[in-house]
Amino acid sequence: QTKTGKAARGLRFTPVAPNTNDAVTIPDGYAQNVVIRWGEPILRGAPAFDPDKQTAAAQAGQFGYNNDFLSLLPLRGEPGRQVLVANHEYTDEILMFKGYDAANPTREQVEIAWAAHGLSVVVVQEERSSGKLTAVPRHRLNRRLTTTSKFRLAGPVAGSELVRTKADPTGTTVLGTLNNCAGGETPWGTTLHGEENFNQYFGGFDKVTDPMTVARLKRYGVTTAVSERKWERFDDRFDLSKEPNEANRFGWVVELDPYDPESTPRKRTALGRFKHEAAQPRLTDDGRPVVYMGDDERFDYFYKFVSSKRMAKGGSRAAHEHNLTLLDEGTLYVAKLTGDSPATEIDGTGKLPSDGEFDGSGAWIPLATAGPDGAVSHVEGMTAEEVYVFTRLAADKVGATKMDRPEDVEPSPQSGKVYVALTNNTNRGKTGFAAADEANPRNSNKHGQVLELTESRNRPESTTFAWSLFLVAGDPNDPATYFAGFPKDQVSPISCPDNVAFDPYGNLWISTDGNALGTHDGLFGVATRGERRGELKQFLTVPTGAETCGPIIQGRRVLVAVQHPGEIDGASVEKPASTWPDGPGTLVRPSVVAVWRKDGCNIGV
Ligand code: FEO
Ligand code: CA
Ligand code: CA
Ligand code: CA
Repeated sequence: QTKTGKAARGLRFTPVAPNTNDAVTIPDGYAQNVVIRWGEPILRGAPAFDPDKQTAAAQAGQFGYNNDFLSLLPLRGEPGRQVLVANHEYTDEILMFKGYDAANPTREQVEIAWAAHGLSVVVVQEERSSGKLTAVPRHRLNRRLTTTSKFRLAGPVAGSELVRTKADPTGTTVLGTLNNCAGGETPWGTTLHGEENFNQYFGGFDKVTDPMTVARLKRYGVTTAVSERKWERFDDRFDLSKEPNEANRFGWVVELDPYDPESTPRKRTALGRFKHEAAQPRLTDDGRPVVYMGDDERFDYFYKFVSSKRMAKGGSRAAHEHNLTLLDEGTLYVAKLTGDSPATEIDGTGKLPSDGEFDGSGAWIPLATAGPDGAVSHVEGMTAEEVYVFTRLAADKVGATKMDRPEDVEPSPQSGKVYVALTNNTNRGKTGFAAADEANPRNSNKHGQVLELTESRNRPESTTFAWSLFLVAGDPNDPATYFAGFPKDQVSPISCPDNVAFDPYGNLWISTDGNALGTHDGLFGVATRGERRGELKQFLTVPTGAETCGPIIQGRRVLVAVQHPGEIDGASVEKPASTWPDGPGTLVRPSVVAVWRKDGCNIGV
């Protein structure tokens, strides 16, 4: 039946129709600006971007490539300014360099790519009369972290034999962070960054002979003889036959203190090693952080970490130092989900079972606990160090539920319910792969779903939970879609939910990656509570070849990262598929965009 009346507060805008514009398309009455582009100088001494004169030294002081996760943090004492933190997931050399020869990259190109990966911290300034944001170059907090910056291994794996290399015989200091995808913000003012598809940077697998090492590398997809970017030709640590442990030093959650430009970011090993998509904490009543985390791979798992330490309040140096240890001690769990409908009613088409919902109960299975005197494994046949470094293998052993690519996760600040984007899984139900189950109800799942998880007694540290599918994505005309029961003729089509965020009104905002409906990716808002629960509306679309990342929904502003615009098979600098954001004759550039309402009111009110 039709729902009449106003849209949910925060979602009162005219939805953007699906399209294939090479532009960021926003609702009527809204305006936008590019906050920062790949290559814009942020550090003192960095030159202006020149596509024909790129150097590694220049890039190391400029905003990196392929911005994914974004965080905007307050900056006290500097009115109108905030601290923007961005992940630079990976590089698209063919779209960066004229005449790029993928079989024979030059050292300079490889070193530019090293410098274009990683993280950026850049202060941004808002224009008083609008929502416009611009970067403040050379601010004292501005920072670049790249493939050659120092990161400290912290927690139970620090010093382990499994992470020792020739260059780092103590197993404590890693150069670089790679493939940082989504992330999160902690209540103590730091940011978390998920190292995702780190497997692609390593070559030499064909020369690894130890069967145990081979099996472990395989489970993480580290299986190429020659890597896509050929970095192993320029630095031995990317050659598995020379440094089989180097890959064990990636695939972690990184914690960064953006307010301390001198600080060394930590890889938090107590949170396990997998293709970390994101990490978002919620506090227990007694102040302990619980971090929810997805492993973005078909048939991989959903995890949480429950700290055993309480957050210290107040702004003292001692409190802050204490809080920087919260993620080093606690228990790592993996999720097992059980449906409440008969298995015979889950036919793989997405047809709702007779109780009208894909739902059920779940258990958090402990994998290992890290404490002040060392770590304990809860998995038979694996040491604690093995559980942390080869977490996927530990989760395999305990029978965790194989999910449809767990991407970003966000606990609702209002209700505490946890939302997990499951982006798609085209192998579901194929020969040799797991068939549909109630939480992953479609075989050959092209469009994905969003799961809502409710911890028992709404306590994040609980070891049991209830769950239901909040959205089953796709074209609403497709009977195998579900929008929390909202009338399907009143919602926007959505495909491949990826990053998620909450607005101040409790609506969930979802950005997409890989829209399988034939139109461009975008950003959507959906009501999670009240009588308009499930009302989903498209707020913007992104240019050709791009995915939509890092959404931040502040009261008066939406921020998105437009990642890999122009990334279409066969495209190159010479044959661009996109010329966003600067138009014909210019190089396509991943960039961050701010959107606001022209009349100055809050978004969607
Ligand atoms: Fe980098 Fe799973 O997206
Ligand atoms: Ca992404
Ligand atoms: Ca059910
Ligand atoms: Ca993602």
